[in-house]
Amino acid sequence: MIQFVNVTKIYGELKALDDVSFEIGSGEMVFVVGPSGAGKSTLMKLLYREEKPTSGQVFVSSVDVSRLPNNQTPILRRRMGIVFQDFKLLPNKTSFENIAYPLFAIGMDQNEIKKRVHGALKVVSLTNKANDFPKNLSAGERQRVGIARAIVQGPSLLVTDEPTGNLDPTTSMEIFQLLERINQRGTTVLVATHNQQMVDQMKKRVIALTNGQVVSDVKSGMYTARVN
Ligand SMILES: Nc1ncnc2c1ncn2[C@@H]1O[C@H](COP(=O)(O)OP(=O)(O)OP(=O)(O)O)[C@@H](O)[C@H]1O
Ligand SMILES: [Mg+2]
Repeated sequence: MIQFVNVTKIYGELKALDDVSFEIGSGEMVFVVGPSGAGKSTLMKLLYREEKPTSGQVFVSSVDVSRLPNNQTPILRRRMGIVFQDFKLLPNKTSFENIAYPLFAIGMDQNEIKKRVHGALKVVSLTNKANDFPKNLSAGERQRVGIARAIVQGPSLLVTDEPTGNLDPTTSMEIFQLLERINQRGTTVLVATHNQQMVDQMKKRVIALTNGQVVSDVKSGMYTARVN
């Protein structure tokens, strides 16, 4: 599903990623961890093509996204759900409208949109908040709307950078468990985080970065054991 092949990313003088190689299979749930500045966000940005590698290749479903022409990036992002730390919801739209937005954008039929959005609202347990505006939702609920919007097109891959960065521990755990449920439904899930406690509890594969290099990659790993 994902392949990094000798990926290096240099910003100016700074090597943010240094010869990174790994593979993630279809259906996996993987955490990318590491201290601040380790390169986690850079790695995520290469995946959804917000940045291009200085050298090396990044494959998503066998497509080399580092060589994808700019006009193809919307197609890439349609197959990939992206969840942001700061939710990025449209303030003047309800939960329903926020989730429906990407479907409107591709010109989907109204009835189909309704069906899909209600399906996504159900997955994130927010059917009762469909008509609420973001300002009337809790932070955890906002993130669940963000997740519903990311999965509404049925992506095979869900990518998220610090999805719980703005949330308290209990709400963070709920979000991680929701991501796990989405993974169990067949979506490959990649989560960058420095939420140590949560990663330890999830017992998933953990790829640890330090100074732009993969320093460990373990199945059912613990964050603490990797970076200390
Ligand atoms: N656009 C940019 N221009 C210059 N340097 C950058 C840019 N983006 C990131 N960097 C640098 O690259 C390195 C890796 O940054 P990155 O954001 O990937 O780290 P991170 O692991 O996500 O950190 P954090 O946990 O703080 O989010 C850092 O030293 C950062 O300052
Ligand atoms: Mg980051």
